[in-house]
Amino acid sequence: YHVDMNADETDKGTYPFYMLKEVDEQPNVMRKLSQEYLSETGEPVIDQKLLDDMQAADRLYIIGAGTSYHAGLVGKRLFESLTQKPTEVHISSEFAYEQPILSKKPFFIFLSQSGETADSREVLVNVNSAGYKSLTLTNVQNSTLSREATYTLLLHAGPEIAVASTKAYTAQIALEAILAKALGECDNQIVAQNFDIRQQLGLVATGMQALVDEKGMIEKVAKESFMNTPNAFYIGRGLDWTVSLESALKLKEISYVQAEGFASGELKHGTIALIEEGTPVVGIITQERTAGLTRSNLQETMARGAKIITISTEKLSKPGDTIVLPDIDEHLTPLLSVVPAQLLAYYTSLNKGLDVDRPRNLAKSVTVE
Ligand code: G6P
Repeated sequence: YHVDMNADETDKGTYPFYMLKEVDEQPNVMRKLSQEYLSETGEPVIDQKLLDDMQAADRLYIIGAGTSYHAGLVGKRLFESLTQKPTEVHISSEFAYEQPILSKKPFFIFLSQSGETADSREVLVNVNSAGYKSLTLTNVQNSTLSREATYTLLLHAGPEIAVASTKAYTAQIALEAILAKALGECDNQIVAQNFDIRQQLGLVATGMQALVDEKGMIEKVAKESFMNTPNAFYIGRGLDWTVSLESALKLKEISYVQAEGFASGELKHGTIALIEEGTPVVGIITQERTAGLTRSNLQETMARGAKIITISTEKLSKPGDTIVLPDIDEHLTPLLSVVPAQLLAYYTSLNKGLDVDRPRNLAKSVTVE
């Protein structure tokens, strides 16, 4: 079949690795998604039949693997907040064999950069044979998951070549936000009506640009705190917790540092035993309601010798914070907070002399269960 790619899209250019190029492309991916899915006046332009089918559902089920699963965890919060529709997120390899009891009218959303992940396809095959409607968000036109679902929407992120997924994660979240806005408006949800998605994605693009322009500072943090540690922790609550999972995955994948993402409040119930002198703990603080709690959880680890690194939004920042993100709507902070985490992983891998784009034991797309 025909693959639509420009030569320059698959060329590394002056970049040493695709991953860095793909991290840098994220502001443009945000702008591209606005162009593709929003009208001149900033309203989502989404197939009405798709919205009708989603509206008719009593529950949304998001299915994905790896980084796409993590994008789904953010999606759950977006759909529930903007549409009031109960939303579950599942790891595809689990769902296929331990299917939860479904609601009366489920609607399935498949997240897959490649559109080829066998674990996710297994779920879609079952969904289709049960006669349920589905939507695939994918970066690859005509991919298996996109052909086999009822509906499909493209991520428009351009080819992602580095094994560690970056721009597909942020594209999935932005597209979920557009979709949640559209669906919430169908139901006259006030939160959705007040959510100015075009303005917010514009702020996200500018904010991402500011972050990728601060590479030197982030590389310094990587060199100071991540090069010689056997392990690292990322903590946060709510949306920040979901980003902590993705941040830890990035670090594991390409730098081979044993990393865990944790709900900040849960750390003290066991895992804090692992904190030693110099163990890096990254606190993600972008949600007003829980910022103070995560700060005290960070203090608890600091008292046990942890080396604290903070990623906070400007309005929640405190003097001495490591990385400060520009303020945006709290629904979308994962789009910014993940960027320094991607770069921390990148520079740790790079400075260890590893093959950033092709880490050991991993494949870009996994077509076996
Ligand atoms: C592989 C990749 C991951 C990716 C996962 C799901 O394990 O190494 O980066 O997140 O598959 O891939 P998908 O294409 O379905 O998003």
